[in-house]
Amino acid sequence: MTVAVYPGSFDPVTLGHFDIIERSSAIMDKVIVAVLNNNSKTPLFSVEERVKMLVDVTRHFPNVEVRSFGGLLVDFVQECHAGVIVRGLRAVTDFEYELQMAQTNHVIAPEVDTVFLTTNLKYSYLSSSIVKEIAMYGGDISAFVHPLVAERIRAKLTGTDPQ
Ligand code: PNS
Repeated sequence: MTVAVYPGSFDPVTLGHFDIIERSSAIMDKVIVAVLNNNSKTPLFSVEERVKMLVDVTRHFPNVEVRSFGGLLVDFVQECHAGVIVRGLRAVTDFEYELQMAQTNHVIAPEVDTVFLTTNLKYSYLSSSIVKEIAMYGGDISAFVHPLVAERIRAKLTGTDPQ
């Protein structure tokens, strides 16, 4: 059984992330989407909110699970008994950082390999930061995120968030 971990900040999950989740769930037996709980960054959404949004948009995939993690990614991968890390590659600009991470992780944990999926061309320009910036200035983000996520961003930015 091939278990893969798809890690990231997901602040928030975009349609680009969703595309990687959908495609990796079709080729892996199980995909664990792993949300980084990183205290040194100031995210728009708490880790619990990010996990909840991911659970809501992926609930129709029976082999996708969403969890949060702190510390080293490879430790979490081993805790999950997974052997694969999935990452999306948008453009050549992602490559250097991704290669460095994949090689470092492989040195720390040689039994763990990283698999890259090239992002769908439709989303090759997309990032969570861009989505947040557009939303902050009142722009339309419906082409970039799931409607449920768009609603949570709007609620967060207008202070009408019930959470
Ligand atoms: O979506 P992001 O922010 O590009 O994801 C980066 C992430 C979470 C994959 C990376 O920061 C990470 O793995 N952090 C955990 C700490 C760790 O293991 N660092 C060493 C990686 S070489």
